[in-house]
Amino acid sequence: MPDSSPTVLLSTADIQARIAALAAEISAGYPAGEDLHLVAILKGAFLFLGDLIRAMDRPVTIDFMAVSSYAKGTTSSGEVRMIKDLDSGLEGRNVIIVEDIVDTGLTLAYLQEILHARSPKTLRTACLLSKPSRRKVEVKVEYVGFTIEDRFVVGYGLDYAERYRNLPYIGVLNE
Ligand code: IMP
Ligand code: MG
Repeated sequence: MPDSSPTVLLSTADIQARIAALAAEISAGYPAGEDLHLVAILKGAFLFLGDLIRAMDRPVTIDFMAVSSYAKGTTSSGEVRMIKDLDSGLEGRNVIIVEDIVDTGLTLAYLQEILHARSPKTLRTACLLSKPSRRKVEVKVEYVGFTIEDRFVVGYGLDYAERYRNLPYIGVLNE
């Protein structure tokens, strides 16, 4: 476990500026007067959700889901298990999945499948980060904050062994 602070990849200002633009883009993509229902994936997306909804000037509701991925990197089966389900149903709602990062895409593919089965009116996905070079399955992501190289990043909600989620920036661990 490295002790030095992670090297900054995306500063607090970079993140806030991009989220403001993303919030405007998302808001503009739905008819006026319709509520948006944002489903954040715990734990990594909690800060992104908080900043995203504060930058949106239309009615929103939120809910949370937690999943865990098994044996990542050692199998391509991509087994994903639900740890916490949503509090309310999705039927007829404009649902936006809010994720921290899309890596292999396996987690998101699972989430999109099970949430689609609950008959939302619309289902889109917003991810703060995307590592396209790591994809194992193609997943559709309508709103991407930043596309990054294949580096393991921490901070702003993202962890390494549950640490670093509180960093106000996104950084790369030093070896
Ligand atoms: P996927 O199923 O491979 O797309 O994995 C997505 C999940 O893996 C994310 O929601 C994160 O929890 C975790 N993850 C993937 N890459 C990183 C990273 O660089 N830093 C921290 N967590 C990551
Ligand atoms: Mg996650």
